Parts: sequence; structure tokens; C-alpha cells
Amino acid sequence: MDLFQAQEKIAELSEQIRTHNYDYYMNDSPQISDYDFDRLLEELQHLEKEYPQFAEENSPTKRVGGAITKNFETVVHRYPMLSLSNSYNREDLIDFDQRVQKLAGKKVEYTCELKYDGVAIGIQYKNGQLFRAVTRGDGSKGDDITENVKTIRAVPLKLKGDYPDEFEIRGELFYPLSVFRALNKSREAAGQDRLANPRNAASGTLKMQDSKVVASRKLDCYLYYVLGENLPFKSHEENLDAAASWGFKVPKKSDKLFATYQSIEEIFEFIEHWSVARNHLNFEIDGIVIKVNDYYLQEELGYTAKSPRWAIAYKFKAEQVETLLNKITYQVGRTGAITPVANLDPILLAGTTVKRASLHNADQIAKLDIREGDLVQVEKGGEIIPKVVGVNLEERPVTSEPTKYISQCPECETELIRIEGEAKHYCPNETGCPTQIKGKITHFISRKAMDIDGLGEETIEQLFAVGLIYNYADLYTLIEADLLKLERMAQKSVSNLLQGVKNSNQIPFERVLFALGIRYVGETVSKKLAKYFKSMDAILNASLEELVAVDEIGEKIAESLYFFLQKEEEIELINRLKSYGLQFEIVEQESTQISTIFEGKAFVVSGVFETYSRNELKKAIEDYGGKNVGSISKKTDYLVAGDKMGPAKKEKAESLGVSILSEQEFIEMLNTL
Ligand code: IVH
Repeated sequence: MDLFQAQEKIAELSEQIRTHNYDYYMNDSPQISDYDFDRLLEELQHLEKEYPQFAEENSPTKRVGGAITKNFETVVHRYPMLSLSNSYNREDLIDFDQRVQKLAGKKVEYTCELKYDGVAIGIQYKNGQLFRAVTRGDGSKGDDITENVKTIRAVPLKLKGDYPDEFEIRGELFYPLSVFRALNKSREAAGQDRLANPRNAASGTLKMQDSKVVASRKLDCYLYYVLGENLPFKSHEENLDAAASWGFKVPKKSDKLFATYQSIEEIFEFIEHWSVARNHLNFEIDGIVIKVNDYYLQEELGYTAKSPRWAIAYKFKAEQVETLLNKITYQVGRTGAITPVANLDPILLAGTTVKRASLHNADQIAKLDIREGDLVQVEKGGEIIPKVVGVNLEERPVTSEPTKYISQCPECETELIRIEGEAKHYCPNETGCPTQIKGKITHFISRKAMDIDGLGEETIEQLFAVGLIYNYADLYTLIEADLLKLERMAQKSVSNLLQGVKNSNQIPFERVLFALGIRYVGETVSKKLAKYFKSMDAILNASLEELVAVDEIGEKIAESLYFFLQKEEEIELINRLKSYGLQFEIVEQESTQISTIFEGKAFVVSGVFETYSRNELKKAIEDYGGKNVGSISKKTDYLVAGDKMGPAKKEKAESLGVSILSEQEFIEMLNTL
């Protein structure tokens, strides 16, 4: 391919990808499969790497992330980000309408749209290119989170059509509920706490330093407000139509996410509709926003210090129901974490019958003084499991007694412990508590761990009950004759089970490590550890300091892993698994490692770089046989120092005699060694 062809191809691919992205996110009508889309993106990435001079500033490959933001810069909003005045009932809305009509001297047209419960964002565009994205902050200044927002595929990087040279568009970024739930599920599998609600989760994600992580998270958005000098619109509706034509995801009339009405009665109908239909949306809303459509009239009405006089939010009361709390029971998770559960008189809430609600932890019960026999208010958040949010004290029976939180495990009667800084109680009897044992085995066989076909939770229950298994290692000693004696176990199921167990010795080390169910050692951490240490023996020999030194392994994870491996019972299980032929070393894939010139060398990569991203540099180190470590110590060989690296790191490297390389020096070293 000559230079001209490369340039043409890069432009063509960029355009093609943008169009497919638009079809997927704005039109809801993908024209190609995800697989083919990824192929196109890879091809473009590849070409851009080879011909960086032709990569567009806002190329679709930016979606993949990679940029690191250490400190989010504060930016003053050109137009303050105001809030909306709230209303909670019909009377408030009627008052609003009357105030507006009085000033207008005539009947007024309003727009209705959803009040998205996400994170407010202002995105500036210059000459059709995304220039900067800023959070709401305190309303007058916010944080520059441009690099992270660029990874969100529902936000266009480059506009189409007839857009103004410079403007800002505002809207909300949020997690679709399906994505939020999946995120919590994988956190749980990794032994991490669940995130409380989609809004906080979105806000946390947007402030992450590594945009690659943000890119993997599938945030979505709706944009609903264009601001700028001399914009040509006469109404809010026109404004949104125009924004849609430039490629933005705006609420559409055809989805009933947007409507224009002349009467307050119709507005009430819109509210009524969404107060029920919102239960079927894949994102959270907390009300309806009513705006005066006519821009001229908006100007006339003006603003108070905090909010426009031309708009009002109608806030839904979070749907709440009151029901009887019959009993508080306690669940034990596979890591021993105790969750108190409210067992309720069944009741209909937001479209489903609710029988149980989470009470979170002992503090929450004490704070609300929740007791058995109370009438409690139950609310549905972004989570599938509803929560108890209050108690009807007036109806409390005179005989009621404060809840005494359990002090012993409900399953094995071991005294519970509470780890400093954690809200939950734990059952420490990891190897003797039946629920924990079964939970650990279930985790061990799960798809992302050992992926053992022919075995499910029920069978584990059965095998445990008859005493055939007591831990995951016992799975490997099961024999046909014993299994055939069990109920519902025919020859075929038995063969499947045994074959599934046998096949699991092909599962790579990183997944075996994950399968062990060590707290905080989830899928990603396991991969990192396996890649770094290469074998279980190396991990077993590592000191706590050595574990903490691994890039992206924090103290909490390192401690959990270290103490897990101090336990004799766990070592015995690992040794047994080894003897059954499971993989406890990584099988080097020759293709990933290019050379061994950095063999045994430890690198710290820190700061912001010009030619390559931090991740690319780290990958190069691994490709050449080196190791990335997270912090500088005596054992570090090189510090690859970019811009904006803290002075403390440099000083430490100097005092320990660690060689400091600039990006250029590092690249030269790669090429000359
Ligand atoms: S219009 C001048 N429309 O709610 C006010 N805001 O409480 C312009 N919000 O700051 C805001 N959905 O973050 C508007 N359809 C919508 C909205 C919406 C959610 C948020 C926004 C705003 C806050 C006000």
C-alpha cells in the first residue's frame, strides 16, 4: 500500500465505522454484526499505527481508550450549569403553567421529556469535532473528563450535516440497567462490594484515570440542550431536531421520549404514562422535565439564581410500598459475608411481586431501627433486589423488641467477625461452613472459572449432602460407581459429569487461580497475577511486599491473597489439585513474547507519554520479556518516566539507583539491544 492509498483507506474506514456507530447507537438499527464492526476497527487501528500521520484527531479508534488522566483539570463553564425547580404534584404544575401563561399573555406550548437519573455533562464541539467534556461540578466550574467521554460510543466524536462552528451540548451519561447489573455481578464474583446504584456507578466510572477501563464499560447517554452564540433555533424542539441531524443521541418523539403539548392535561397524561412505563426502561429516570418550547418566551421568562423560570421538573416519588416484615434471616455468601434479608408479606412493587428485600448490614438495621413485625417501606432502586427504606413507627406493635443482630453464623454457628473498615460481618469458618463450602465449589465450576460441564448447583448440593464432596478438590476423586447410586443420576449424566471434571485440567492457570475463590482475586486480577508470576509456586514464594509491588495489585488484594496462601488447608487443596493435573503454570504462548532482552528486568512506567500510550509501553516491556511493577523499590531496574510524573517518584528512583529512561531513551534501548 502506498502512502496515498493508506491515507484514503484510513479516511474510508473512519467514515464507515462512524456510520455503523451511528446506526447502532442513534438509529437503533445496526447494519453489521459486532464481530464485523470490531474487524473494521482493528483494521483501522492497524493502519493508524503504521501511518500515524493520517490518523484523524478524533478517529473512531479513540473509543478504545488508553489515555490516562491523573488529575482532572477544573474548567469554568461558559454557561453555568443550572438546576431545575422541582414539583411533586399537580398543583405545583398548575401553578407553574399559570405563571408562564400570565407572562406570555396566551396559551403556551410545552415540551415534555424524561428526567434522566445520570451524570450531567457539557460537551463542547469545535468545527464538528469533540473538543472538551466537562462535568457539572458546582454548576459554575466542573472537571475536564474529555478522554473518558471520548470512549463512550453514543457520544459522537465527529459531527455530520450543517452544524454551528462552536457550541456546547448538554445531557446525561448513565449506565443502562442491564450493564449495571452485569457489572455488579462480576464485582460480586470477584468478592468486591456491589455498587449501590447506577448513578453513583456512572459518576465513579467517569472519574477513572484509565480511559481504557471506561471504554470497556458501555455507558450510554441522552443529550438534550444545545447552547452557543447566535444559534439559529426558535424553539427547543427545533434545537433537538437539529442536534439529531448532526449525529447526537437525543430523545425522539417516535419513542415517546419527547412530546409537545398545549395543555396541562396532556402533560399529566405523559407523566402518568411514564410513571408506570419507566419500570420497563433499561435506564433510570426520576421524573419528567417540562420546558417552554418557544426560545423567545424562554428569554422573556428568564432565570432565578439557580434555575430557569421556563422549565420545571416533575419528580416521581420512588415507588414505595408498605408491607409486613415477618422475619429477618441471614444469608452467607461464598466468602463468608453475611447479608441480612427481610422476609416480607408478598406485595406488588413496580410491576413485580416482592417477597424479600435486602437489609444490607447491621448498621443499616440499627440506623432505621428495623424490627421483625414492623410495617416497613420498600423501594426499588436500580438493583433487582428491592431495599427497605423506612419503618412505620406508628404501627409498631407494643410488644416489639429491637433487632439483635446475630453473633454466630446461621449455618455453622461459628462466632462472626467484623473486619475493620468493612460494614459486613463475616463467618471465618471458611473450610467448615457448609454454605461457604458449597458456594466455593459452585464458584469453582462456574463458566468463567473451571467451566465444568455436567455439574450444577443442585448436583453440588446433592454430592455434598451424601458426603461425596467436601471441597473442590474432591470433585477430582469422584467415581462412577458412587455417582450411579445417587437419585436422578443416570449413566449419561454421570459420564458427562466425569468427562467435564476431566476436561477441566485443560483450563489455563489464570482461570484456575480465579477458581480458587480468593477474596478480591477476580478474573482480571488473576490474569495479572498469572502473567506476572507465571506459576503458582512463584506466587507461593512471593512476600507480601512482592505482591503489592505488582502493577495494579493494591494492598487489599495482596493481603487477601497472601493470607489465603498462609493457610495450611488451602495449600493442601492446591497440592491436591496439582496432583490431579490442573494447570498451575502458564503455558507460554510464543507469539506474544517477541524477545527475552528484558528477561528478569522490572520496570515502572509512570507519567504521560508523547509517542506511545502508557499501556503500549507496558505491553512492549512484556513482549520483550520484562515485568511491570507498580511502585519503585530496590528491585526495580528501570523507571520509564513521562511528563507529569510526580517528583517524589523521581527522587526515590534516584536514591535507590534505579535507571531513569525517557520515552525516547526507552524506544532506543528497545531498538539497540
Ligand atoms: S434541562 C437549565 N432536561 O436534571 C436546566 N435536565 O435538576 C437545563 N436532567 O442539571 C436542564 N434530565 O442534569 C434537563 N431532560 C432533561 C434532564 C435534565 C435530567 C438533569 C440535569 C439538570 C438536572 C436538574
